[in-house]
Amino acid sequence: MKKLITLVAFCSVQFMLAQQVQSPSKDLTLDFSLNNQGEPVYQVTYKGKEVVKPSKLGVSIKDEMALTAGFSITNSVQTTVNESWNPVLGEEKTIKNHYNQATYQLTQKETNRRLDIVFKVYDEGVAFRYEFPFQDSVNYFIISDENTEFNLAGNHKTFWIPGDYDSQEYVYFETKLSEIDNDILERDNGIALKTIQSRYRVQSPLMMKTDDGLYLNIFEAAVVNYPVMHLDVDRVNFKLKSNLVPNAVGDKAYLRTPSVTPWRTIMVSDDARDIVASKMILNLNEPSKIEDTSWIKPMKYVGIWWEMHVGISTWDYAGSQNAQNTGGELIASGKHGATTENTKRYIDFAAKHGFDGALVEGWNVGWEDWFGKWKEDVFDFLTPYPDFDIEEVHQYAKSKGVKMIMHHETSGSAANYERHLDRAMELMKRYDYPAVKTGYVGRIIPRGEYHDGQTMVNHFNFVAQRMADNQLMVNSHESTRPTGYHRTYPNYIAAEAARGNEFNAWSSGNPPAHETILPFTRLLGGPMDYTPGIFEIKMNVYDAAKTAQVQTTLAKQLALYVTLYSPLQMAADLPENYEKHLDAFQFIKDVPADWQQSIYLEAEPGDYLTVARKDKYSESWFLGTITDENPRTTEIKLDFLSPNKKYKATIYKDGKNAHWQTNPKSYEITTQTVTGKSKLKLNLAASGGAAVSFEPVD
Ligand code: NOJ
Ligand code: CA
Repeated sequence: MKKLITLVAFCSVQFMLAQQVQSPSKDLTLDFSLNNQGEPVYQVTYKGKEVVKPSKLGVSIKDEMALTAGFSITNSVQTTVNESWNPVLGEEKTIKNHYNQATYQLTQKETNRRLDIVFKVYDEGVAFRYEFPFQDSVNYFIISDENTEFNLAGNHKTFWIPGDYDSQEYVYFETKLSEIDNDILERDNGIALKTIQSRYRVQSPLMMKTDDGLYLNIFEAAVVNYPVMHLDVDRVNFKLKSNLVPNAVGDKAYLRTPSVTPWRTIMVSDDARDIVASKMILNLNEPSKIEDTSWIKPMKYVGIWWEMHVGISTWDYAGSQNAQNTGGELIASGKHGATTENTKRYIDFAAKHGFDGALVEGWNVGWEDWFGKWKEDVFDFLTPYPDFDIEEVHQYAKSKGVKMIMHHETSGSAANYERHLDRAMELMKRYDYPAVKTGYVGRIIPRGEYHDGQTMVNHFNFVAQRMADNQLMVNSHESTRPTGYHRTYPNYIAAEAARGNEFNAWSSGNPPAHETILPFTRLLGGPMDYTPGIFEIKMNVYDAAKTAQVQTTLAKQLALYVTLYSPLQMAADLPENYEKHLDAFQFIKDVPADWQQSIYLEAEPGDYLTVARKDKYSESWFLGTITDENPRTTEIKLDFLSPNKKYKATIYKDGKNAHWQTNPKSYEITTQTVTGKSKLKLNLAASGGAAVSFEPVD
């Protein structure tokens, strides 16, 4: 690790005028000061343009005077950090971490309490957090509110989802700040549990575009021992204020000095590519706490999964999804998906096509009434259904060189999961499962807690830590959205925590723009288990009455393996659907899940995205490009390829008359020889895409 830390200034003063910190490029300026009431105020300017107008900072403490006013600056320290580090898995082999930092030590005169505010100014954004140093007058304390403001300079275009304390599985709305309103939400959107307590509250990451072409993003990093931050919107003054998710008794966070809050981040650039390419969120997290990371591996997998979502088979053995219909007896319906025989079929398919893993959902008893009853003890994570022979599956998978992926659906009962966790992990080790997919569908137990509160944040992080102790990897569904904690626990390889492809199987689905927005929002915090690769696009093939469809062309499904970064990638469709299109399936087989370098070539939130990535372990490059509901023609310069090398480009693209609604399965595959001097012209259909592999030739 290269590290250069320079101490630029150190001064001790009683009162200080506005202080300034600039980004290394000097394009971004942060101003900090105390106003006449001794309230901390900051302001952000980008290339001379006001981005965040003077905005107040501070926190409220339960039963104590708020830490919001009456401060003096007792000290300030500025430093510069310029270092680089290598993530275990990632979009880049080496990540640069370069920023200027200022710490303002504040003392509240009346109470003699200390609060520090630390700013880090990167080229692509500003981050700050509150720090509560160890002090005689403050030991244990309860955060009752956080008063962080983001006072925006205009009525920006915004990509938002409702500030729901229990779910992020929403379609994004694209409106002006002044038009944000949770009441415009279509309630029948496939989300089972919704907890929206205010009409004008949204979630972060909040992506925005100003009228004069600046891209802004407000988010947070390193959410550890603290609740998730949502944002309350003042639609008249364009002011956002932090809203911390409460716990069952209404408190926000229980802390003890010394402690810190998560980082609040404001990314800004006049080039949208800087936002999607930013590694600021990762950089703001602590380095890995796992010393030996050799067991943390990227994984491409198949699984007994989509067949339940499309209704061919069931998770539960009785096929009723309701134990009461069966008198509590386990009566085989013949529709259970997770049988030993079916699992072997998936293992065979994985082995034949070179996939690392196979996921099996519905292997364990409990699914008869798994969801919606707020039942404490649904699963024991140990007992297989009678038709799933875990030992036989283990031996078979081993003989074929395929790793099994465990599934732990908790139904939101974190309490029950924590009780069973040690034994559940023992079972995984015994049968050689290297990774688990967890799930939290339904209302949380401990009852009264929300998915996004401090208790559950601690639960998700605790599970990652315990799994790390046992050298196991985690992929969480319905968890809090990641904020870069996979730098600290790189075994936390992916999460869902947004509206995934599964919604296309049984709901109004994900509109064509969805996957062009995710990289500007959800993916900024970490990899997503989106589960792309659906080739049988219309659900009426399974049941003529179904109207659901994946709102995509087949070629766009291929492109998603490049545009939606994740070290864990599923080939989500059924083996029999892939067998029908083995030529297109070849791209899913070839595409890596771990990269040496990534270059965002074209990006516009809600419209399109083009990314080129170089395999971490070879000289091959891969490119993905996608568009929203509008067809698009693009000409891509291949100057990212190594000079003096020739490549065989295999291009998987939309057919001439492809269209996501009328002709989604039309695709063409062509090959040509290219060099770094070539250009590639691609025509993308409505909600279409293209995927390209570049393999060096002698
Ligand atoms: C929701 C998850 O997102 C999905 O992938 C899973 O199949 C179901 N819950 C059942 O656990
Ligand atoms: Ca889900």
